[in-house]
Amino acid sequence: MKLQEILFSQGFGTRRICSGLVQQGFVAVAGVVCTEPAAEFVADNLHFTVQDVAWQYHEKAYLMLYKPAGYECSQKPSTYPSIYTLLPAPIRQRGGGAAAGVQAVGRLDQDTTGLLLLSDDGKFIHRMSSPKHHVPKVYDVTAKHAVDDKQLQKLLAGVVLDDDPKPVRAAACAQTGELQLSLTLTEGKYHQVKRMIAAVGNRVDALHRSRIGGLALPADLRPGEWRWLTVQDMVAISTARPLTA
Ligand code: URA
Repeated sequence: MKLQEILFSQGFGTRRICSGLVQQGFVAVAGVVCTEPAAEFVADNLHFTVQDVAWQYHEKAYLMLYKPAGYECSQKPSTYPSIYTLLPAPIRQRGGGAAAGVQAVGRLDQDTTGLLLLSDDGKFIHRMSSPKHHVPKVYDVTAKHAVDDKQLQKLLAGVVLDDDPKPVRAAACAQTGELQLSLTLTEGKYHQVKRMIAAVGNRVDALHRSRIGGLALPADLRPGEWRWLTVQDMVAISTARPLTA
């Protein structure tokens, strides 16, 4: 693949801009500056730098982000900054065109923290967000009032939310502290955790997503930080089965 095309596919701007970056000596491949935009390289796993910042070629982008509180999962946020501002420009621009860049796999509320996946692979986004695929998501809830066994039993048995007569139930639920519980869901309705907790007579004070499928938020990722998913992460995401109570 031509170096100019590699840069274009990875979100470094129009073909003209990418060609200019190469001609001006801003791009190095495996440590060697290349000033020929049409130079051919094997794109897969190619390591290169653009203005001394290291990149690796990814045909499709699969990332995790530790979503901090105070960010909206929208490209056009209404009140708070967008999570997309936490990503480097090339990742936001990958592919060019109207549907450029990565998209969040589902949304977390502005005040929710934790594991968020992003990708530019439409099939992956659909598979991960579709309730049909039952990908379990684990939420760590801090409640306003003491958690008790009755609340847990109701969450497991199923509660009715105002927009659907069909009860929604937790795939698993466990008390982890006086005010804390861990809730596993396999679907993602609007404000689902908050509405389920309200339906059992309590209230969410803080909400954190700690796991998607078999993938846990890594302990060394700080709020606001992102990283590429590894092959092992991808396997972990899709191999976990929903827990039963
Ligand atoms: N459920 C909620 O209520 N909020 C979130 O952000 C995620 C799940």
